[in-house]
Amino acid sequence: MSFPCFPGDSDHEYQKWRDRKLHNMPGSADELVVEVSDPTSLSLAERNALTRAVARTNMAIYAGPATPEAGSEVPRQLGAQFGLHRLDPNLGADEDAMTALRVIEGAGPGSGDYVPYTDKALNWHTDGYYNAPDRKIESMVLHCVRPAAEGGENALLDPDIAYIVLRDANPDWARALCHPNSLTTPANIQNGVTIRPERSTSVFSTASDGSLLMDYTERKRNVIWRDDPDTLAAVAFLREFMASDSPFIYRARLEAGWGLLCNNVLHTRTAFRDNPSAPRLVYRGRYYDRIRT
Ligand SMILES: [Fe+2]
Repeated sequence: MSFPCFPGDSDHEYQKWRDRKLHNMPGSADELVVEVSDPTSLSLAERNALTRAVARTNMAIYAGPATPEAGSEVPRQLGAQFGLHRLDPNLGADEDAMTALRVIEGAGPGSGDYVPYTDKALNWHTDGYYNAPDRKIESMVLHCVRPAAEGGENALLDPDIAYIVLRDANPDWARALCHPNSLTTPANIQNGVTIRPERSTSVFSTASDGSLLMDYTERKRNVIWRDDPDTLAAVAFLREFMASDSPFIYRARLEAGWGLLCNNVLHTRTAFRDNPSAPRLVYRGRYYDRIRT
């Protein structure tokens, strides 16, 4: 019984990895939060605490001071301290490849209803699931300059846990999502110009450091799942799990000066309401590098 993606072929190897992972999982989102005095220049203790959280569950939240004038150099310098340098210049990114996420009336990249630039909810996804295979998003930093007046919280789920619950439920389902054509994103064509060609990917693959990488989106439109019973059952299972109140799903709200440092974990965002004089502003950096722990 072979699992071409992760983590090794043998059940024994899997059980060992699984048990260690579950044993070390934080009990709540509070355990992810590390107070830091200056995210651009972490102390050794702060860096170690963030590294420990990432090693346990692929994510950590740094709680820094509110710096309303801060620009994208804060998340950039934070990321650099963990070996994150190669930014993905995605659609909508500023010139320095960091993306300022805020409500832009009718002015998403090529489309007015591009959800990240609205105050609507975002469903479960990993970032860049439609990227080319040589440009996989392995990690991400979300830095909150200003939270919304209300809402804008994130739910967070370690992809390792998604893999574990799926493989424990039915190994064939986990195997199906290792297929290279599990998930197909149709071409993004706007005004007759191909912004992005059609892409197919496996949901689970291996990251540059040998750990698990996940490409996933819960969106129903503009996504084609491989038409195979195990794939469709696996997707239905994951959808149900992510809608559950599993203690492995962390819920957090980034306050001003706080940020999420993660190995591209699964995440959502709730809808929010802005204070017009101080609208929500979050910088996002997507990297081809894995967090150095
Ligand atoms: Fe995202």
